[in-house]
Amino acid sequence: MAFHRPHSLLFLQLLLVLLIYKSEASECHPPPGEHLIREICDDSQHVDLCVSSLKADPRASQVCINKMGPAVVSIVRNNATDTRSYVYLLLNQATNPAAKACLAACYKNYKFAVRDLRAAVKESKDYDRFGSVLSRLTLVRSNVTECEAGFRKGNAASPLTRRNRNVVQLAEVADVIISDLMV
Ligand SMILES: *[C@@H]1O[C@H](CO)[C@@H](O)[C@H](O)[C@H]1NC(C)=O
Ligand SMILES: *[C@@H]1O[C@H](CO)[C@@H](O)[C@H](O)[C@H]1NC(C)=O
Repeated sequence: MAFHRPHSLLFLQLLLVLLIYKSEASECHPPPGEHLIREICDDSQHVDLCVSSLKADPRASQVCINKMGPAVVSIVRNNATDTRSYVYLLLNQATNPAAKACLAACYKNYKFAVRDLRAAVKESKDYDRFGSVLSRLTLVRSNVTECEAGFRKGNAASPLTRRNRNVVQLAEVADVIISDLMV
């Protein structure tokens, strides 16, 4: 998911910063200004979520691959880990068999998702492993999507719709940022 829009001045600026940075992989450059964060986030379908996530995490707003990559993937991991705990809680409280079956399936999905995200955080420190990070982010999204779909199939109300959407959107944001860092 590289930039598909016509090259703007801001895009070139971003590219320059990323290129400079890539040539000195261990060095970090000052946090990008608001406009640069917007530019980074512009490819995302969830611009506001992307901007607020990047601004909230000081590491994520540093333009350097070995900090920004892990930071954006950690945001997804933390969110998914929190939801996995919530699913576990609901699973233990559920009495309705249909709901319980869906929650059990979701718990599996979230176990996979968290495992992939943990590995992805490590891999995202290494530019050469960004391809694997993207594959894992895809698996995370399909696992969480499968969890949500399970409730529809099982004719049970999903107590996870909002949380599932959060994780999927954050994973999409991470995907866009990692893809842009790969440019
Ligand atoms: C997960 O992400 C959503 C959307 O960004 C946010 O509202 C929520 O507070 C996050 N939860 C955690 C535990 O990070
Ligand atoms: C869930 O994640 C696991 C582990 O990465 C993967 O093998 C599986 O295919 C994923 N499930 C879906 C529906 O994507």
